Amino acid sequence: MNEQNEIDEVLSKVESFLLFQKELEVPIYLEKISDEAQTKFDSSFIDKQLSVFDEPFLKANDLIKLDALINSCQKCSLGKSRIKFVFGVGDRDADIVMVGEAPGADEDAQGEPFVGRAGKLLNELLREIGLEREEVYICNILKCRPPGNRDPLPEEVEKCEPYLLKQFSLLKPKIIVALGRIAGNTLLKSRETLSNLRREVYNYYGIPLFVTFHPAAILRNPNWKSNILDDLKKMKNYYDELVGY
Ligand code: URA
Repeated sequence: MNEQNEIDEVLSKVESFLLFQKELEVPIYLEKISDEAQTKFDSSFIDKQLSVFDEPFLKANDLIKLDALINSCQKCSLGKSRIKFVFGVGDRDADIVMVGEAPGADEDAQGEPFVGRAGKLLNELLREIGLEREEVYICNILKCRPPGNRDPLPEEVEKCEPYLLKQFSLLKPKIIVALGRIAGNTLLKSRETLSNLRREVYNYYGIPLFVTFHPAAILRNPNWKSNILDDLKKMKNYYDELVGY
């Protein structure tokens, strides 16, 4: 077999594999995102994922209506223990969405994500890459505070994640940034270390997804500040290229 035939054969196998994945409707590819994938967000993958649920919140056509339809949620026990439901905050036309894990005590008290010490650091980090808090959208995987700030339980994620997907479907972000290993692994349905998660840009339902440190981790270990800044700068450069700055 000559070299061209070998190349054709490999390409044909890759094509069959990709068509097979498409048939299975596998929406998340744990691989470096390709140039062609840097297209505008097409919410149909997320909407298809959500279509298995038959609930009123799916009909919301903007974030304010969505908030109103879900903020009295009692689907898990956190509905009883929360002070405030923490929907999300920021520019509703934002291209960049930052996703944390779950509200802490300050967020629970104020009903806004990332308002405590980790939030102040997040604002500072955003400013260092040329962004104001108000220019991005900030939300969490869980909308209610887990007691004692424990990690989210799988059943809590299962109930709450559809709300986040609906937020994405309405926001149509150009980039998502998962803050911390738990947010990253939850979105990607993986069980990777943060070091591994930070290595790639992922294709999350057609949206480039970056994973970096949780700001609270930087408060615990300030030596990592240059690492999170490197990640955020990489994300910002990627964004600038994407939108043609
Ligand atoms: N940590 C998070 O993950 N989210 C917040 O909103 C606050 C702290």
